[in-house]
Amino acid sequence: MPTLTTTTNPTPQPTPPEISPNEPGNSFISNTHPGAANPGNLPTNPTNPPTNPDDLPTNPTPTPQSLVPLIQTLNKINLPNLYAPRHNGHGVPSEPMNDRVWIFDTTLRDGEQSPGCSMTVPEKLLMAAKLVELGVDILEAGFPIASQGDFEAVDAVSREYPWAQVAALARCTKLDVERAAASLTKARRPRIHTFMATSDIHLKYKFRKSREQVLEDIVAAVELARSYVDDVEFSAEDGARTDPDYLEQVSRAAVAAGARTINIPDTVGYSTPEEYGALIGRIVNALGDTAVVSVHCHDDLGLAVANSLAAVQAGARQIECTINGIGERAGNCSLEEIVMILKTRHDRYPFTTGIHTEHLYSASQLLTSLISFGPQPNKAIVGRNAFAHEAGIHQDGYLKERTTYEIIDPKSVGVPEGKLVLGKHSGRHALKKRCEDLGYNLSKDELDFVYKEITALADNKKGLMDEEIADLAKLSQQVAQPVGD
Ligand code: KIV
Ligand code: ZN
Repeated sequence: MPTLTTTTNPTPQPTPPEISPNEPGNSFISNTHPGAANPGNLPTNPTNPPTNPDDLPTNPTPTPQSLVPLIQTLNKINLPNLYAPRHNGHGVPSEPMNDRVWIFDTTLRDGEQSPGCSMTVPEKLLMAAKLVELGVDILEAGFPIASQGDFEAVDAVSREYPWAQVAALARCTKLDVERAAASLTKARRPRIHTFMATSDIHLKYKFRKSREQVLEDIVAAVELARSYVDDVEFSAEDGARTDPDYLEQVSRAAVAAGARTINIPDTVGYSTPEEYGALIGRIVNALGDTAVVSVHCHDDLGLAVANSLAAVQAGARQIECTINGIGERAGNCSLEEIVMILKTRHDRYPFTTGIHTEHLYSASQLLTSLISFGPQPNKAIVGRNAFAHEAGIHQDGYLKERTTYEIIDPKSVGVPEGKLVLGKHSGRHALKKRCEDLGYNLSKDELDFVYKEITALADNKKGLMDEEIADLAKLSQQVAQPVGD
């Protein structure tokens, strides 16, 4: 274990400093760290005894009473599944590595830190309940040094779901790592997720540090994190724009220092599937079975899901993602999309996740109710129109056989049923069916009447509401009644 030197106050402060790049004075550095000196080493165990977690400051948040029944129900539902051992005690999956992909949800951290998405602790707890029900493997609940609320969120999720694998984010600084460790004391399967940028552009402008200095900070942080928990993840921020030789060196060093998951983020969403797949393949080959390689893709070019998929094909076995794809700027890899690709196209991507897909829609809806925006209507899987058919030809085919125009059964993602939207492209067949669904069995004349009215109306509207259709169906029956009846 290196000697940690720091110019910051070694006692974690109740009100942590504003998050800023690692300043020279805001990090710990060892000039003699063995992992840094020889980053190709195999993993070592930290030699210092773990600090007693009870000595660390905690800040318990009582569970809001209104959430208790929900949480109790969810606890019962999920116990058997979540208690199943998934790791061999060192953060490495005990199941065969060849096809199981770990879903690391960061809705409550990367997602929550984006504009319009901040959540209170009770809101995060509510969302955590849904994520647990959904079956995410790792739940990143916050960035404890960033705010008191984030600290409390990690602590509260750890208390409510002690069996869940809860992650807390920390920069590669002593203060951050200690704060993350303190927030996780109640988690039975805690993960400290420590990160530091590794690209030259970040080193030059953000840190003003050399590659050697950054490597030392990383190794020291991972070792410190390992002194608190067995399960440590290291992320090489801006990994996709990092010199691959240096990225490999950093990855080996982090593993040697005790990290069991190495995450290579495409922090600025710049990479393309071929490029990113090749980079991930290189790191997978370099690390062999000493660590799980993870990916974390941002969607600046709309490629977050495609890049994550390419990475899995190249050997990555953890995907970091969010519900509705929320996250910094254009967002993160969308959980529902990547999971449904792996499920729907299992023929081409023979990988499995532990996600109970029938909860995807309700997870999306819940998140929408907690933050300030929902997915766009045409968003894959969870958008309002994802299973809506308007064109008459499509509706006709769909009514004859759903799979003519639907590749996913809406029920498999928790959407009650495919929707036929009645607009100017719709046909009589769909209209008749909708009227029946609304309780009107129309004669041919009645249907003709409604059809004529709706076609005229739909020309000026984006789609017709069920109430409008029901009104017309009712009217058609009155109009068709014999005079004097
Ligand atoms: O985008 C990113 O690089 C991150 C890291 C903290 C994992 O969010
Ligand atoms: Zn991110």
